[in-house]
Amino acid sequence: MQTLTIRRPDDWHLHLRDGAMLEAVAPWSARQFARAIIMPNLVPPVTSVAAASAYRERIRAAAGPGFTPLMTCYLTDDADPDALERGHREGVWVAAKLYPAGATTNSHSGVTDIRRIAPALERMQAIGMVLCVHGEVTDPEIDIFDREAVFLGRVLAPVMRDFPDLKIVLEHITTADSAEFVRDAGPNLAATITPQHLHLNRNALFAGGLRPHAYCLPVVKRERHRLAVRAAAVSGSPKFFLGTDSAPHLREAKESGCGCAGIWNAPHALESYATVFDEEGALDRFEGFASEHGPRFYGLPLNEGTISLERKPQKVPGEIAAAGSMLVPFHAGEELGWTLA
Ligand code: DOR
Ligand code: ZN
Repeated sequence: MQTLTIRRPDDWHLHLRDGAMLEAVAPWSARQFARAIIMPNLVPPVTSVAAASAYRERIRAAAGPGFTPLMTCYLTDDADPDALERGHREGVWVAAKLYPAGATTNSHSGVTDIRRIAPALERMQAIGMVLCVHGEVTDPEIDIFDREAVFLGRVLAPVMRDFPDLKIVLEHITTADSAEFVRDAGPNLAATITPQHLHLNRNALFAGGLRPHAYCLPVVKRERHRLAVRAAAVSGSPKFFLGTDSAPHLREAKESGCGCAGIWNAPHALESYATVFDEEGALDRFEGFASEHGPRFYGLPLNEGTISLERKPQKVPGEIAAAGSMLVPFHAGEELGWTLA
């Protein structure tokens, strides 16, 4: 096969930031994806309907026509069920995002104890609003490589037991534990998968030296986990779909004594995923993963129109100018076998 044409895809987990960074990165997503679930971990976080509406307008202006930002509410300990319902009814909130406080970038205003947001979860369950979850415990006693697996039993399973009709997306899964947990759960639990967790294992963090551009959260895991996440992505199961977690940080913020977590994969996300499906002999399942499973889970229409990829090698640039400095994209300096037509 030389050309792969699929229904226009969506990105079910994206960080676009704000201001000059937003303007630099949004067009890269808009050229591939029709819609994206926009992460609310700005400074300050997007917690109000008014802030989300205003942010949505800035995204529309930066991305140009043909791109629909789907906004999420950043959940805090005092999340107001009435405000969630109002934003959802007004068509501003598509989902709400649970960041355990301290789990990742700009998550310090997140939820300190899941029991505190029970009223919000109750209301979301009642109105059919999706909960997006950063699935890691923050307990410093838990090894960083185990934080996702521990989250499943300690937080996710109790939430699913107490709110059985709540629709939950376990985001950016990185482990065999999560792949199995999601596969074996009922239809209200799904997961997104990033390109980096399909390509990298934890050796990538230390290949010949410390590699800040391979650092994201949840951190990449052992090879056996990468293989399990790959198998889930290409399985054809409607519970797994595309979510890049593209998370730009300027070069100097990554290459630092305390480097930021996040991989900016937006420029070649679709080609990166296509390479994986090709390697796995699963190109026939790519469209489901990229363009069908996500909208079906969220209860949104499938996109009209198509996008084509060609089996044509391309070299990924080492850096791309943004916001007065440089961003280092995922796969920098490498060759990818597929190119957006
Ligand atoms: O690597 C990450 N970067 N993981 C997250 O959960 C947040 C993100 C960011 O905002 O930079
Ligand atoms: Zn993220």
